[in-house]
Amino acid sequence: MRGLSGTIRLDSVGKEYLTAAGSVCAVGAISLEVEAGASVAITGPSGCGKSTLLGLVGGLEAPSAGRVFVDGEELSGLSERQRARLRRDEFGLVFQSDSLLPFLTVVENVGLGLALHGARDGYRRSLELIAELGLADHADKLPDQLSGGERQRVAVARALVHGPRLILADEPTGSLDARNSEVVIDLLVSAQRAVGATLLVVTHDPVVARRMDRVLGLRDGQLVHDAARFEEPQRRRSIA
Ligand SMILES: Nc1ncnc2c1ncn2[C@@H]1O[C@H](COP(=O)(O)OP(=O)(O)O)[C@@H](O)[C@H]1O
Ligand SMILES: [Mg+2]
Repeated sequence: MRGLSGTIRLDSVGKEYLTAAGSVCAVGAISLEVEAGASVAITGPSGCGKSTLLGLVGGLEAPSAGRVFVDGEELSGLSERQRARLRRDEFGLVFQSDSLLPFLTVVENVGLGLALHGARDGYRRSLELIAELGLADHADKLPDQLSGGERQRVAVARALVHGPRLILADEPTGSLDARNSEVVIDLLVSAQRAVGATLLVVTHDPVVARRMDRVLGLRDGQLVHDAARFEEPQRRRSIA
C-alpha cells in the first residue's frame, strides 16, 4: 500500500472492551467516509470513544464489529506485520502526552523511525525539520530539558518526518497553552496540505476544531454530529 491516498471508510464499526465488570461499548455502529486530503476534527465529551475511534482507524485496535478500510483495504485483512509497516511508513501518530524516549536526544527521537527504515539521510532530514520548527538549538538536548510545548513540537516532528499520508492526532494540544497549541496545529495543517494528507484530530478545543474542514461529534460511542466547515478566506490566506 505504498503511495497511500488516505481515504478512510468505516462500515458499521463497533468496539467493545471486555472488563472485569462486564463489556463496555466504546464505539457503537459508526459508518463514515473521509475523503483523501480532508482534515477532520473529532469532538465530544470525555469517554465518548474518540481515542478508540482513532485507534481503530490507525489499526491499533481491532473492531469487534464492522470493517475499517484505508484506501479500500480492510485493516483486519492485513497481517500484524503489514499493519505495523503501514503505521510506520504511511501513518503519522501524535498522542496527547508526547511519548518521547527520554534517553534519546531530540534529533534522535525525530529520526528513530527513519533510521529503522534504513534511510541514510534520516539525521539530516530530522535536523532540517527540527530547524523548521524553530527547535534547532535544542536538537542535541534530552526531552526533559525542554518545555511541554517544545516536547510536543518534537513529537509532531517525529510523526511528520517521513511525510505520512494519514495523520492521526489524539488531543495533540490538550496540555498546551493557546500559543503553543496554535503552533502545533499550524504544523499539522501545513504538513497535511503539503502532501495532501488526510488529517484526523481529536480535540476538546473549539479553536482547533474550527481549523479543520469537517467536524464530527461523538456521544456515547455514536456519531451525533457531522458538519463541513468552510474557513473564512482571510484565515486560509494566513496559513498558506
Ligand atoms: N482498554 C480499555 N479497556 C476497557 N475500557 C476501555 C478501554 N479503552 C477505553 N475504554 C472505555 O471505552 C470508552 C471510550 O473510551 P475512549 O475512546 O478513551 O474515550 P475518549 O477518548 O473520548 O475519552 C470509555 O468508557 C472508556 O472507559
Ligand atoms: Mg481520549
